[in-house]
Amino acid sequence: MQRAYDGINGKTVVKLEDVELVYNSEIGTVTALAQVNLDIQEGEFICVMGPSGCGKSTLLNIIAGFMQPTDGQALMNGRPIEGPDWQRGVVFQSPPLYPWLTIKENVNFGLRMRNIPEKEREAITAEYLEIVGLTDFANRKPYELSGGMKQRASLAKVLVNEPGMILMDEPFGALDALTRDKMQALIRRIWMKNQSTVFFITHDVDEALSLATKVIVMSSRPGRIVKVLDTDFTYDMDGANSESARYSKQYMTMRESILNVINQKDELAV
Ligand SMILES: Nc1ncnc2c1ncn2[C@@H]1O[C@H](COP(=O)(O)OP(=O)(O)O)[C@@H](O)[C@H]1O
Ligand SMILES: [Mg+2]
Repeated sequence: MQRAYDGINGKTVVKLEDVELVYNSEIGTVTALAQVNLDIQEGEFICVMGPSGCGKSTLLNIIAGFMQPTDGQALMNGRPIEGPDWQRGVVFQSPPLYPWLTIKENVNFGLRMRNIPEKEREAITAEYLEIVGLTDFANRKPYELSGGMKQRASLAKVLVNEPGMILMDEPFGALDALTRDKMQALIRRIWMKNQSTVFFITHDVDEALSLATKVIVMSSRPGRIVKVLDTDFTYDMDGANSESARYSKQYMTMRESILNVINQKDELAV
């Protein structure tokens, strides 16, 4: 298969070494993650799957820098991740748009925080509003937009910063099928354009297979990585080959093996 993309260059950006995360709460302790080891290479599009409650969001929060492992370490470019950083942009399922700001002001927000000069800010904001198809809604408030439009605005708000790494926690889970397809095409295009590294949590196996260059499957709690699959269907998803890629034997086989691990039929993998 001919590769349309050569952003993956073999450089490790994020390294997780024996990461453990134990939550301590009043009702007791919960081991959410145990012995998680993972190398994320620059330019990869990683999709993470696993049963509900297995620690996917916890893992994303550690990579984002919102929390630190209780044991082991999480490194970015060889240094421990100590806190959030705009270079790792996070897209949540519920778009965190400020309701009192217009869409344009929301998208502009990160650039303003980073003291980017106004002219430059205006240009970058306009570019990303165009990319996500919201130019005509620049001066509207979030409540005037549909769910899909809000999700696109939220994506633009994160992407204007052109983060090297984009972290997404089931971002399209609440969208209807058609809007979701469009969002997938959009994020694929942006990933290729910016050659960014993407860490994307999803519960939809077809979403994972149509976006990822690598699918990671986690076990139920305490979450561990039990299967890693290299995939390359994403390169064909926007072109004339999309149907044949989606129904190929290779696709079906991978789909089944992922679902078997999630449904714990594949004893060997666990
Ligand atoms: N703040 C918290 N305190 C105690 N337990 C938590 C907390 N956050 C998450 N958990 C527990 O940790 C486990 C993993 O949660 P999470 O990472 O949200 O899983 P997932 O995203 O895979 O559904 C779950 O069992 C959840 O109940
Ligand atoms: Mg979650």
